[in-house]
Amino acid sequence: MPTTKAETSEPTRPVTLPDFARWKAQGRPISVLTAYDFPTARLLDEGGVDCLLVGDSLGTAVQGHETTLPVTLDQMVYHTEMVARAARRALVVADLPFMSYQPSVTDAVRAAGRLLKETRCRAVKLEGGRAFAPTISALVNAGIPVMGHIGLMPQSVHRLGGYKVQRDQEALLDDARAVADAGAFAVVLECIPAPLAIEVTKAIAVPTIGIGAGVGCDGQVLVLHDLLGMLDSFQPRFARKYAELATTIRDAARAYVDDVTHRRFPTDRESFS
Ligand code: KIV
Repeated sequence: MPTTKAETSEPTRPVTLPDFARWKAQGRPISVLTAYDFPTARLLDEGGVDCLLVGDSLGTAVQGHETTLPVTLDQMVYHTEMVARAARRALVVADLPFMSYQPSVTDAVRAAGRLLKETRCRAVKLEGGRAFAPTISALVNAGIPVMGHIGLMPQSVHRLGGYKVQRDQEALLDDARAVADAGAFAVVLECIPAPLAIEVTKAIAVPTIGIGAGVGCDGQVLVLHDLLGMLDSFQPRFARKYAELATTIRDAARAYVDDVTHRRFPTDRESFS
């Protein structure tokens, strides 16, 4: 059915879940980036990003851990609150960290409820396929929107034997359908072959958001530090650097140290008489 101008125009109001559903129906790609603090989230929001994900990639991108497993619910509340305060338009989604939702459905509802109450984020994300369908249903029944996450699930890195592309077509299709049927409003597909991501995207009614899943998803997500080129030690194959901030920041620090060492900073203009 043809869409009217009003339907296709971009919302300047806050992005909502129905926008996600409409964008999938219209074939309008959805942009998602991770964010962890107020000033960066404000800039990303002003840059027009549709959804800010306070990912538990906090652990690897910001805290310097090797995995996301050490991230706590308190830390997620702390960072999500800053991001939600900054976002004027983007939908803010917070990750449920490792062991905040796995032990029981009650734990999941309490943890997600805390995130919504204390941070003003508007949805949570959790990793897991069929086994977590009852958890997703319980959250949705409690009024909490859920973004699913299947494929490579970093919280399960030890069970998966590393950060590997996930190729089990039948299992991934079953997981995607179960998560969508349980009421998730979108599903992240991490590190799965591009043709399989297209199959999953066709098989479910809610948007798929890909990371390392090819261009056929309904949207894309990247970890901010990969996009900005902040960590020059490692760059995943699926990420694209849109800036070289590692070099910019290191050069700025060197120039500052040089100026301080040679008493070129501060000048009179930068001092009070
Ligand atoms: O934690 C995170 O940032 C994520 C994205 C990579 C999807 O889960």
